[in-house]
Formats: sequence, structure tokens, C-alpha cells
Amino acid sequence: MQAIRIRDGIYRISANIGNKDLFEGIWPLPNGVSLNSYLVKGEKIALIDLVKDWDDAPGQIASQLASVGVSFDQIDYLIINHMEPDHTGWLRELREKNPKLQILASKKSIPLIKNFYGIEEGVKAVSSGDSLDLGDGKTLFFEDTPNVHWPETMVTWERSSKVLFSCDAFGSFGAMGNKAFHDELSASEKDFFDRETLRYYANIVSTFSPFVERAIKKLENLEIDVVAPSHGPIWREEPEKIVEQYAQYASWMKGPALPEITFVWSSMYGNTQRMVEPVLEGIRSEGVPVHVHRVPQEHVSFVLADAWRSTGIVLGMPTYEYKMFPPMAHVLDILDRSHVQSRTAFRFGSYGWSGGAQKQLEEFTSSMKWNCMEALEFAGAPDADDLALGRERGAELARAVKKMCQADK
Ligand code: FEO
Repeated sequence: MQAIRIRDGIYRISANIGNKDLFEGIWPLPNGVSLNSYLVKGEKIALIDLVKDWDDAPGQIASQLASVGVSFDQIDYLIINHMEPDHTGWLRELREKNPKLQILASKKSIPLIKNFYGIEEGVKAVSSGDSLDLGDGKTLFFEDTPNVHWPETMVTWERSSKVLFSCDAFGSFGAMGNKAFHDELSASEKDFFDRETLRYYANIVSTFSPFVERAIKKLENLEIDVVAPSHGPIWREEPEKIVEQYAQYASWMKGPALPEITFVWSSMYGNTQRMVEPVLEGIRSEGVPVHVHRVPQEHVSFVLADAWRSTGIVLGMPTYEYKMFPPMAHVLDILDRSHVQSRTAFRFGSYGWSGGAQKQLEEFTSSMKWNCMEALEFAGAPDADDLALGRERGAELARAVKKMCQADK
């Protein structure tokens, strides 16, 4: 693959990563992910963000650098916007190939560079307002954007081209293949990246939504013609769209989100499962879109993405050993860590000799500020009255969701 020109002297250098590994060791990548680095050529040469040795990413970027006549030992500066190893894992090897390489990173990155890679020499801290003149009209400016999504994160902006190199911010899952820009994707590819951008946000960034809002506020001071993140498409037409998209995602942390419901359920022997269809019928009777996930069959990554966009949550969960059924407890733990707050929720589920799940759930929902309808618990199998009540409660939840979203307009 060739380096792809963004503006004169500015290129995307990207590695396509396949679907065999989990991102951060947790999140599935059914359609891979791209690791985007950027080359800025003035009289001096800067590389912005790196890769880890993953699906021959170093080989992939070496050949793209070669396509514009650059080798690793010709790079003068490496700009590290973010220390997570998907962007720094190959740092020690790069330094060995290029001992004179100068590394620029935020103040909080400096101890991490030492701790992760044992590198202390040739490292310089930069912070908001600092700049680096590369000559030939290219100047890089740095802006701290803490906690988007690690404490040390920053962005880099090139003045002559108005390109923002935003690293994880404004990124997406999904490998880009030979394409680079959002405007060259087909309609179905745009839909795909819409979904994967939300899943990426919910999985990686959502916990830090207040910091995303602060970072977006800071960036209002910059004129931005191109948003160039380190994962997913580059936005050169309507770059404000991806910023608005992220602002909307961040606003969903405290709800209401979209007038939709995420329905996540689990069943041991089919008794809790019997209530799934009646509750779904109730929701659908009110015309509210519903995203259904069965766990542990489906990965929590996809549940989280839908929960993040949904104002309503249904939990179908039996009691297991006096507590919440473990696959559902795992989902709720992830929703808690990701700060899926202020949802409107309804839970149903079966118990055998004793309940217990509901008590444990109520501790969770009160800390998450969820507004919960009365739960529907049944001993063993649900009877006809239970099933009718389940349908009613589904419709009631759907009406509550519509009302909340209308009130928020
Ligand atoms: Fe793409 Fe937080 O690393």
C-alpha cells in the first residue's frame, strides 16, 4: 500500500489490523481496525503516532514511508499524542533503528515512556500552546486533551494545512483497507463506520465523556479543515460532522439518549426466556426500536454500544445462587465502568427456591441513577398472568422512553 496524501507534505501511513485479536485484550474486532500514523514533511520530518508490532504493522508502515522516499532513520521527530501501546508498542525498535530520533510528548507521557520502554534520552515534554517548526511552512502545535482517554493524551495541529491529528479522539473500529477518507466510502461503508464509531466510543472512550466535552470546547479555538484520527476514516469534507457525532455521544452519558431500548437477557433453563417475547411485543406495540442481545452468547462490547445509545434498558435475568446471574452481572459491571447512567429500566426474571438478584440489582441501579419500573419476578415458570403483565410492562417502558425523549427536545 502507498502513503496517502492528505495535503502537500502530509501523508497518512496506516496499518490494517485483522480480526484475530481483541482490542485492549477485551473488545472484538470482527472487521479489524486501522492504526493510522501521519507523516509531516517540512525541512525536517515528523511522524505523528506509531504502531505496535501487530499484523506486521511496522512492515506495513515501512513500505508506505518508502513510497514517499522516507526511511525510519530519516525521521527527525516522533510526536506521541497518546501512550497506549497500540500507538507506541514499536517505540523501542524505532529508537534502535534511529538513535537520533527526538520524541515529543505531553508532560504526563514522560514517565510512561520510561516505564513502558526504558527510554529517557532524547525525550521532550510539550504542552498546550507549544509548537514545533519543521521548516518549509510546516508548524505543529500541541494541545493537551487530558483523559481522552488516558490522562496524558494530547492532539497535534498543523497550522498551514489546518489538519488536526487527534489520535484516539474521533476514531473508529474497522480496518480501512485501501481507503483513507470518509468521503470516499460507499453508503453501506458509511453505515458500517457509523456503527463501529459508536461501538469504539462506547467501549473505549465513554467513561471519559465529560473530558470529551471539555476537549471539544478547547478545539473550538482551532480552525480545522481535516480531522485525522489514529483509527478509522479521515474527515476532510465536513470535518465538523465527526466532532458533532462525538459531542452527541458524550451527551448520552447522563441520558436521555435516543428513543430506543436495549434488551439484554440471559436464561438458565428457559423460564426467564419465556418472558422475552411478551415484553418485546409490548415494546414493539409502541413503535420503539429495540436492540436485543442474549448473553453470554453475544459479547458485551455490542451490548454496551447499544446501551450507550438507548434511553431504555430491559434486563431479563434470573437469580443464581441468591444473586444476579453471572453473565448479566458481567454486563452490568461493564455498564457501570462505562458510566451508562440515568437510564429508564425494567427487569424480569425467574427464581427457584429463593430470589436475590433483584436486591443486588437495586444496589447497582441506585448508584447508576437508573429510574426503574417495578420488577417482574416469578417462581419457576411464568404463568399466563405473568406473561400478560410482561407485555404491559414492555409497553409501559416504551411509553416512558418516548416521553423522556420528547421532554428532552
Ligand atoms: Fe488507540 Fe487509546 O489507543
